[in-house]
Amino acid sequence: MINKIKNKLKIKLRNYKISKISFQEYSDYKNFFIQEDKKSNWESSTFSEIIEKYLKQNKKLNLVEIGVARGETAKFTLSRLDSSISTYTGVDPYESNYDSTDIFSHFNQQLMDNLYIYVVEKINDPRFNLMRKKSNQAYLEFEDNSIDAIFIDGNHSYSAVLEDIKNWRSKIKKNGLMIGDDYLTFDGVRKAVEETFRNINQVGNTWFVKI
Ligand SMILES: C[S@@+](CC[C@H](N)C(=O)[O-])C[C@H]1O[C@@H](n2cnc3c(N)ncnc32)[C@H](O)[C@@H]1O
Repeated sequence: MINKIKNKLKIKLRNYKISKISFQEYSDYKNFFIQEDKKSNWESSTFSEIIEKYLKQNKKLNLVEIGVARGETAKFTLSRLDSSISTYTGVDPYESNYDSTDIFSHFNQQLMDNLYIYVVEKINDPRFNLMRKKSNQAYLEFEDNSIDAIFIDGNHSYSAVLEDIKNWRSKIKKNGLMIGDDYLTFDGVRKAVEETFRNINQVGNTWFVKI
């Protein structure tokens, strides 16, 4: 009981500290993001590994990532699959306070605004387009059967993941891939995926299905 309370307080304090990170100049934000990139232990290779294994003969891939954050997966995937990629669209509103259980949501709005600028600058690739929108708005701009593989890694709440699966499913080509992160981390992700699909594959913390 005491440990539970201690843990809750620790998380509250961590989130409070995160929400107070603020600088005067863009250059200071940029230095902060560069340090965060260096410190990060987020897995950024899984999206490209699954594509390589299951869509490997395909060239001119159209890829979408929902939830781009610091652009780690986007940068890695563009470099690893390189000439196989035709377009890579990132979808992220860069709005704070989207889900209190997600650490990224505690960054303040000024930091999110600067992060958007940083990612555009960092990726700097003509195939990369960063749509500053929520996924439940962005999907309206895609044609059915137009995406080879999508990585769902935005809002991890049950209702948001369910909505992403429902909204984006028809946008994926036949035999294309729907892939999503945090299958083990968030109960809501697992519930939404298991309610929708029977043929679920799993690589570590990532789920995927062939459409
Ligand atoms: C876990 S991070 C993404 C990490 C990234 N995919 C990577 O591999 O480096 C979650 C991101 O989802 C974004 N996000 C939150 N709600 C969203 C929504 N409704 N649509 C798209 N992105 C969203 C957040 O702004 C945050 O940048």
